[in-house]
Amino acid sequence: MRFPAFNPLVPKIQIRDLHKRFDGAPLNALEHINLDIAHNEFVTFVGASGCGKSTLLRTIGGLETHTSGELLVDGRPVTGPDIDRAMVFQHYSLYPWMSVMENIKFCRQLSAHRKDLTSAQVEAASGRADALLRLMGLQASANAWPNQLSGGMQQRVAIARALMGRPGILLMDEPFGALDAQTREVMHDLIRHVHRLERATIVFVTHDVEEAIYLGGRVVLMAPRPGRIDTVYDVPFGDQRDQDLKHAPEFLRLKREILERIRETSGMKTDLEQLQRLSGLTAETV
Ligand SMILES: Nc1ncnc2c1ncn2[C@@H]1O[C@H](COP(=O)(O)OP(=O)(O)O)[C@@H](O)[C@H]1O
Ligand SMILES: [Mg+2]
Repeated sequence: MRFPAFNPLVPKIQIRDLHKRFDGAPLNALEHINLDIAHNEFVTFVGASGCGKSTLLRTIGGLETHTSGELLVDGRPVTGPDIDRAMVFQHYSLYPWMSVMENIKFCRQLSAHRKDLTSAQVEAASGRADALLRLMGLQASANAWPNQLSGGMQQRVAIARALMGRPGILLMDEPFGALDAQTREVMHDLIRHVHRLERATIVFVTHDVEEAIYLGGRVVLMAPRPGRIDTVYDVPFGDQRDQDLKHAPEFLRLKREILERIRETSGMKTDLEQLQRLSGLTAETV
């Protein structure tokens, strides 16, 4: 088994003046990105569509290269994908021809080195798959096919599979974006539980400000054209959170502040003001 280097003094992820320009694009998709993410942090990213959230997440995941700047994980430059950085996307990426249990066990590390595995390792992996199945409340569905499951359950399988290789970092891009409101609430508490239990660093992208505040220890607000970090908010609600928090005045205040800032940075506010001026003008002149 591989143990990633752990040095509590070195942030898990270090991003230094990172830039990304896609070929032929007139603007940087990412510009002057500077951020440290600590071991076991839960950081959420929000921002207007097109501000570079997914690009940044994919870059951390090693699926995208950057144009300049530095990106370090455990103090080492990221040069490509790694088993220590697992990704979960909005659209369930389960193999439809495999059962739930087979999907969970099908992790890159195990498949790549299957021939070298000792029986003790195979047993340990089976034990972990069982534990993850229980953690996700999927015991009764171990032998089901993905298309027999609801969206929420499919996403639980995807999370369990991502956790199978004990990644130090879990990268999630709008993972609950396709789920209904009630299922999302359940998933919010589940992923917080997973975070406490697994002690992974979680980087979570969403367009839902409420979700970002409820889950994150920090909320990073990005702005578009060029994609950049606008504001980093510390979320002052500690680790013990429940759904009632979403109705607390301090929660709603922070939510309003972030939403307002997203409107300002996305240019939507200006557009609305122009519209107001225009309709005022029309009313006066007609
Ligand atoms: N593969 C790509 N090729 C060219 N431009 C891209 C590519 N992926 C994303 N972009 C552009 O980069 C910017 C950031 O996109 P993205 O990271 O998807 O934003 P977000 O996830 O915040 O909505 C957008 O302007 C988008 O059009
Ligand atoms: Mg995106």
